[in-house]
Amino acid sequence: MITRDRWGSFSLLARGLPAEVFAIVDACVARLHPAVPLALRRVRWLPIQAGERAKRFAEVERLLEAAHGLSREGTLLAVGGGTVGDLATVAAHLHRRGVRLVLVPSTLLAAVDSSLGGKGAVNVSGAKNAAGVFHEPAEAWICPELFETLGLPQLRDGFVEALKMAACLDPVLWRSARARHLSTRRIVREGRRLKRAICERDPLDRGERRLLNFGHSFGHALEALSRHRLAHGAAVRLGVVCALDVGRALGVTPDEVAAEVQAGFEPLGDEPIRVELARWLRRATARELRTLLSADKKTGADGALRMVLLAGVGAPLVRPVATSVWSSLLPAWRGGRAT
Ligand SMILES: NC(=O)c1ccc[n+]([C@@H]2O[C@H](COP(=O)([O-])OP(=O)(O)OC[C@H]3O[C@@H](n4cnc5c(N)ncnc54)[C@H](O)[C@@H]3O)[C@@H](O)[C@H]2O)c1
Ligand SMILES: [Zn+2]
Repeated sequence: MITRDRWGSFSLLARGLPAEVFAIVDACVARLHPAVPLALRRVRWLPIQAGERAKRFAEVERLLEAAHGLSREGTLLAVGGGTVGDLATVAAHLHRRGVRLVLVPSTLLAAVDSSLGGKGAVNVSGAKNAAGVFHEPAEAWICPELFETLGLPQLRDGFVEALKMAACLDPVLWRSARARHLSTRRIVREGRRLKRAICERDPLDRGERRLLNFGHSFGHALEALSRHRLAHGAAVRLGVVCALDVGRALGVTPDEVAAEVQAGFEPLGDEPIRVELARWLRRATARELRTLLSADKKTGADGALRMVLLAGVGAPLVRPVATSVWSSLLPAWRGGRAT
């Protein structure tokens, strides 16, 4: 099923809600946007504390218990960022073996990326997205007024995912983004266009769609290492530099491509990328990092990490990467030096 996009204000779109709905709403969004609870006043809804801690089986269970009366013909509506969307996707898949899902992404990251493609997951024993499902939302409501309350870090997180797609898939968009010629609306539109196209060709993430994991092998490990103090987008920004360095070490990524791509991601954080990367990596031993990287779903049966590397902007490829390759880069990363 292909998700239908509907753009408009939440109040307007909520007028067309189906008869039987159970909703979950990011508590922060409910507070900042009183129009959301107002529009849901005739509907049963549950506030959710967003964040990685929401992506737990205990929270799925709480949601399923609250949604108990919802029949198989009902709709689960979720208003929130990527964590609320991932939780809702798992719950919608499990509730009566699958109910209709409507996602209302309230962060730029969720609008650009996570509210399309049907993936939902929870974290297990500190490993990101260790248990998950595919359950395509029937609709995504893009309500631009929700993005008005996002802070700079949250906007940057969404921009990181959009820029990642542009770096891998669309050199023209990459150039526009580098020149800062993109409005928030355009970022959402273009990000969704790219993600939709790749998900339509590879709905179950068995091939081409894996290219969207650029920056995510180390990104997920860093997120876990930071105990989720690093937001997903912020961690992916650092993971991109790791992927560029690994690509250079293997002779896949030319130096000038690595420099260009790193420069694109550089302004999307408070600190220079290498300084920030060093700060988080100094906390970890190589063994901890190896455990986290192998807990990530991107390792193959042989244990080798499968990383997305860039041969050029718009030219990604997946390569097995031996532990010896990335561990030889660790001292430079920890020292905040270029490799
Ligand atoms: N399923 C997928 O395909 C996919 C893709 C990319 C990322 N993800 C997942 O998405 C998650 C990250 O998503 P996220 O960055 O949206 O995180 P999030 O859901 O934790 O939201 C970030 C913060 O923004 C707040 N917030 C939400 N909407 C707001 C608004 N309109 N105004 C002000 N504050 C608002 C939230 O309360 C939270 O504090 C990660 O868990 C990541 O693994 C999933
Ligand atoms: Zn991501």
